[in-house]
Amino acid sequence: MRKIMIAANWKMNTTVSEAKELARALIANTEMKQHVEVLICPPFISTETVYNEIKGSGLLLGAQNMHYEDKGAFTGEVSPIMIAGMCQYVILGHSERRSLFGESSQIVNLKIKAAIRHKIKPILCVGESLDENKNSLTESVLHSQLSQSLEGISNADMTCLVIAYEPVWAIGTGLAASARQADDTIGFLRKALAEIFDKDVSDKTRILYGGSANATNISEYLRERQIDGALVGGAALKANEFTSMILKASQTQK
Ligand code: PGA
Repeated sequence: MRKIMIAANWKMNTTVSEAKELARALIANTEMKQHVEVLICPPFISTETVYNEIKGSGLLLGAQNMHYEDKGAFTGEVSPIMIAGMCQYVILGHSERRSLFGESSQIVNLKIKAAIRHKIKPILCVGESLDENKNSLTESVLHSQLSQSLEGISNADMTCLVIAYEPVWAIGTGLAASARQADDTIGFLRKALAEIFDKDVSDKTRILYGGSANATNISEYLRERQIDGALVGGAALKANEFTSMILKASQTQK
């Protein structure tokens, strides 16, 4: 009922020509399957190049961030109207944005609303730090990130939104959460969605796992009932490995 999504966050990696090459390799190697959505999110400067490269391939294009205003004096920022024609998705509230660039859930909330206004589907990232995890604060941290980021969002708007659960301690560390751990926490997020919205929203919203997901562990995550896909950083920069993740996802029976 919930379509699997495998999403690539290239972060601040690849020059324009490398991005073009990586996108091309994914088209060449990827046997697209009906029941998997494959999304790539290159750096802004490569958006248009990658957009032209993947046109008609079935790959989806996303951005890694955006500002919430349409235009104005915001030096260095990229607005929703600049990406709306090319990107179907935008990653919002990634833990690197939150911790390195001071993005609060209130800012993430403004960005989610802007994305929805411009028909760009938000991928809302939530996740607890190692300290919060050790101090048994995971559920309270996730609950407040979720409720604050989704403040004022309607049930109807939730149909286009995807959530990514990314424990901060698992991102880029090789210390992936176990499939059981990720499934339990995503189960908690579903309960929170049912409480903030209703059971229908909770049942229909896709929730991805992110944090050192790779071709070796992807099948374990996808076998779990609550996990609908993965948001992939490091492993998505290698065309062969990412392709293998897509193929494994396409073989998963949910
Ligand atoms: P990682 O990054 O796969 O390199 O851990 C995931 C992410 O930050 O989205």
